[in-house]
Amino acid sequence: MTTTGPTGCPIHAGFDPLSPEFLSDPFAVMAALPLSETPVFYAPSIDYYVVTRYADIERAFRDPATYSAAAAQAPLVPIVPEAQQILFAGGHRPAPSMVSLDEPAHARLRKPAARAFAVKRVNDMLPTIRRVAAELLDAVRDAREFDVVGALAFPLPATIVFSLMGVPERDHPQLKRWCGYRAALSWGRPAPADQVEIATNMAAYRAYLRGLVDAKVGERGNDLTSDLLAIHDEDPERLTIAEIASILFSLSFAGHETTTGLIGNTVRRLLEDPSRWDAIVSDPDLIPAAVEESLRFDPSVPVWRRVTTRPAVLGGVDLPEGARLFLWLAAGNRDPSVFPEPDRFDMRRANADQHLAFGKGLHYCLGANMGRLEARIAIEELARRFPRLRLVDGQRLDFHPNISFRGPQRLLVSATGHP
Ligand code: HEM
Repeated sequence: MTTTGPTGCPIHAGFDPLSPEFLSDPFAVMAALPLSETPVFYAPSIDYYVVTRYADIERAFRDPATYSAAAAQAPLVPIVPEAQQILFAGGHRPAPSMVSLDEPAHARLRKPAARAFAVKRVNDMLPTIRRVAAELLDAVRDAREFDVVGALAFPLPATIVFSLMGVPERDHPQLKRWCGYRAALSWGRPAPADQVEIATNMAAYRAYLRGLVDAKVGERGNDLTSDLLAIHDEDPERLTIAEIASILFSLSFAGHETTTGLIGNTVRRLLEDPSRWDAIVSDPDLIPAAVEESLRFDPSVPVWRRVTTRPAVLGGVDLPEGARLFLWLAAGNRDPSVFPEPDRFDMRRANADQHLAFGKGLHYCLGANMGRLEARIAIEELARRFPRLRLVDGQRLDFHPNISFRGPQRLLVSATGHP
């Protein structure tokens, strides 16, 4: 139901991005909303203004003076004092890392981190990504049925980004678990009773990363942490040890949760219509376009956030200073004024790469090339080994209860009939 809010903004009182209906099918919720009449609306369930049009989302991304990144990972619900104390003592401050900092603090972290993601450096990782993907798929070579998320989409990006950071393999599962707590804290709706456990784990996660940097001070390796320490050695003021730990905090999460979702969503969308899978099997050159169209059609980061630093008008709605914005990237990616027939998955769409899945502007995703490469190789290896892969019928897909990271938690595929 639409009513009008205090600033004249339409309200959709029933919109709740953490409801079971939304989590299982946000696109059905999107289709039922009158978005052409109410492209910006207020959602009381989360106390956010929801922005759905491509041009309005782009405008917010490209005007950081008006639309601050500070809300990017702010908890959606109040945090109880006991949990807050644990977080604070553990070094988890309100503006805790690159993605939620504004200039100039943002650039201090982004510039050195960007060195690690130069196109050449990412392309150099290609053989490693292919080797890891091949090893993971060898393990399910003879399975008639397997979970493609558990077998490939989950371990591949984690192994790659943690190795890049220099995290020993034995610690990868622990780091993955901490990332689950982080998703719940910043993008979910944790009950007060769960917040202390989450906060304790966040403090342990922060301590682990600081310990990793300290250990690398004495024993450098061929990894990103050691590269960042080399910058610190040249000029300790330019990049402090605490800032290096903060960069690792950013990458350790952003570098895999997102890509796990991308691989899972791409495999799902390709197998949903077996003729799509058959098309990429017979023409693997289509795979990059299939990945790009998945980023548009079903982005693994469907929502990102901003907060206004001053009054502004967006999509015809007056926003007060401090208005919290839910930039619904998945809706912008289906804006018919940019993408004709937006609800159609089309691997030959000419402008699919204009999607909003990686954001825009100063915070544009640092790992976009790496995420694309990992997804491309994952699908290539899968298609080569399992040309007749199909989805297992009748399965129910589950999604982690958070607003910003989306991909099936399990995706059962049937591998029978492959040569
Ligand atoms: C593959 C799927 C991925 C998606 C859909 C994705 C999406 C995003 C989005 C929406 C943003 C925020 C952009 C903004 O605020 O304007 C972002 C930022 C970021 N991403 Fe990604 N990402 C992906 C993969 C990766 C990977 C693989 C890495 C690193 C290894 C990474 C590292 C980062 C970092 C560090 C930022 C913060 C940049 C900044 O604040 O300057 N991402 N990403």
